[in-house]
Amino acid sequence: MAELDWLSSPTRTSLHGRVRVPGDKSISHRAIMLAALAEGHSRVSGFLEGKDTQATATIFEQLGVRIETPAWGERLVHGVGLHGLRAPDRSLDCGNAGTAMRLLTGLLAGQTFDSTLTGDGSLLQRPMHRVLEPLRQMGAGFDAQDGDLPPLHIHRRSHLNGCYVTPEIASAQVKSAILLAGLYAQGSTEVCEMHPTRDYTERMLAAFGWPVEFSPGHAQLSGGHVLRATDIVVPADFSSAAFLLIAGSVIPGSELHLLDVGLNPRRTGLLQALRAMGADIREGPTREQGGERVADLQVRHAPLQGVDIPEAWVTDMIDEFPALFVAAALAQGRTRIQGARELRVKESDRIAVMATGLRKLGVDIEERPDGACIEGGLIHGGEVDSHADHRCAMAFAVAGQVADDTVLIRDCSNVDTSFPRFVPLMRQAGFNLSHS
Ligand code: S3P
Repeated sequence: MAELDWLSSPTRTSLHGRVRVPGDKSISHRAIMLAALAEGHSRVSGFLEGKDTQATATIFEQLGVRIETPAWGERLVHGVGLHGLRAPDRSLDCGNAGTAMRLLTGLLAGQTFDSTLTGDGSLLQRPMHRVLEPLRQMGAGFDAQDGDLPPLHIHRRSHLNGCYVTPEIASAQVKSAILLAGLYAQGSTEVCEMHPTRDYTERMLAAFGWPVEFSPGHAQLSGGHVLRATDIVVPADFSSAAFLLIAGSVIPGSELHLLDVGLNPRRTGLLQALRAMGADIREGPTREQGGERVADLQVRHAPLQGVDIPEAWVTDMIDEFPALFVAAALAQGRTRIQGARELRVKESDRIAVMATGLRKLGVDIEERPDGACIEGGLIHGGEVDSHADHRCAMAFAVAGQVADDTVLIRDCSNVDTSFPRFVPLMRQAGFNLSHS
């Protein structure tokens, strides 16, 4: 992939308008997966046309599923049933997508053919032991690099056994991999978490008619049922909206309306954090869409204060820390983040990338093993490297809008994994952002 740099310069206007950010990444991945395994045809609308979710769709095509694209953001998936996938004739490339890699590991563990999952340079560095260990308890077989890293070879199995798992790491990807393997297992599969994680897999299994019991931190299902095709409408991704919530808060005079945002409580921890910092964010009337809470959000400029982010808040805002680091850098006073060690094994080491970048822009920031301590103040212009991490690139783009000079952001090509057309959409809202 070609490297692509951005220039983010202090905006000369406030931000205004009604913006619909692209569809939710987590839900788009799962919609393709379950629709592929269902009996019948499912329509997915609001599908994220990002590289990550397109990789998932391509993988299911390689597994013998016909997927049509009637329009941008729409897929018609001709499900093949739980046992209808076909052996692929080459490796399955997840690109940059950790969610595809981890969930597919569970889903493919119960197939009667071998398969190999691979990905880009960043994905090949991401730990897999967290999913391999519980799946091995279920009878699955794998070969990984050094026991932990992709490419991952998955051995065929005629059946798996259900299990009871209490994962050591709070991770929806781990939980979902186990539940997807559980579809192919004999008996009951149950996951109990120490911190509840996003429950999209559980909700969507229920929407496709699979009996599943779940409550925050707990999910249980049994094998031997059928997924029935259904239509899925994907809400706008809260994690993409997060950049505009922060930009709208810190740019004087701004007022933005963000439309159709998915507000699953396991995703919206940033709202709690920003409100504790003094942000002015209001929710319009809530509606239910495919079992998910959806509403418009309105954000208005408001001065922010530093805040302590305790470990208990981390899981519900796990993808929002790059953006929060920027909010903290602009707030009055100190922000402390703790219990967020997982950030070190995301698309990049997000604590190191954000701390190094913000320090280059003059921010007083102390890196800790499981978080950071950020002293709010001014952001200066300069050059930063996103390390090909989409969310770090977008967070630095927000920083540039309120810096005292231009910020050059290196290596932004992966923003297309989660937020296609980020630059034009942000420019429309009032950003002074361009490709360099
Ligand atoms: C995701 C879960 C989270 C999140 C990732 C998407 C998912 O990862 O960071 O971007 O769709 O299940 P973990 O579950 O590993 O924390």
